[in-house]
Amino acid sequence: MSKPNSPMTVPNFIKAKSEGRKLAVLTAYDFLWAGLFDQAGVDAILVGDSLGMVVQGHSTTLPVTLDEIIYHAKTVMRAVKQALVVVDMPFLSFQVSPAQAIENAGRILKETGAAAVKLEGGVNQARTIAALAEADIPVMAHVGLKPQSVHKLGGMKVQRDEQRLLADARAAQQAGAFAIVLELIPRQISAEITRELSIPTIGIGAGPDCDGQVLVNCDMLGLTEGFRPKFVKRFAELRTEATRAVQQYVTEVRSGAFPSDEQSHH
Ligand code: KIV
Repeated sequence: MSKPNSPMTVPNFIKAKSEGRKLAVLTAYDFLWAGLFDQAGVDAILVGDSLGMVVQGHSTTLPVTLDEIIYHAKTVMRAVKQALVVVDMPFLSFQVSPAQAIENAGRILKETGAAAVKLEGGVNQARTIAALAEADIPVMAHVGLKPQSVHKLGGMKVQRDEQRLLADARAAQQAGAFAIVLELIPRQISAEITRELSIPTIGIGAGPDCDGQVLVNCDMLGLTEGFRPKFVKRFAELRTEATRAVQQYVTEVRSGAFPSDEQSHH
């Protein structure tokens, strides 16, 4: 796996689009996995508020707090040497006002050392994206399915309103976002947005024509139980392998086969 020679920066992330380099992004929430993904060559790591569901066990991302995401981002930052680290702004950490968003995004950058934040929104958050950009805080926008809007949307559904999606993407770029996540939208629409925008589009469930892709790490590693949406490819089946290892450990401890003399000090 080829690794970049120098740490990924926001300008280099943007440049990847004009150079035709696809961007590979994964979520990470801790030191162990972030270090592994970084060494494996991902371009960026997203400390996503999906941690509310896959790490904390909530049914939505809404309960995640700013302090919690900062805690996870700090552990990620201790491991990452090359990838760009982007930290999600949790529900109600930016929606109240642009001033609140600057204060909270500022806390994220100051306390974690990460280079950028992500927030869910397009037209409705254009003022906030512009305020962050004016404060020199790099911001990745997120349109299409916005998990923080799950109650308004009535579920995690494919978003098909082409005019609205285009307007959201244009507004985010116009306001100064350096990149944009397109979540759960038909591939024809994400292709059109990708063609039109000059900033990179990072798709999740948005087809192959985006400038990059992002997946939730537990989904692509096959660690998630039950959750098998169409857009997720399981690149490994780690849940099966980890379960097998733990079952063998339990059996060997109970039978006395572990530890053996080989694992004993003399
Ligand atoms: O929170 C998250 O992990 C995300 C990605 C799914 C894009 O927002």
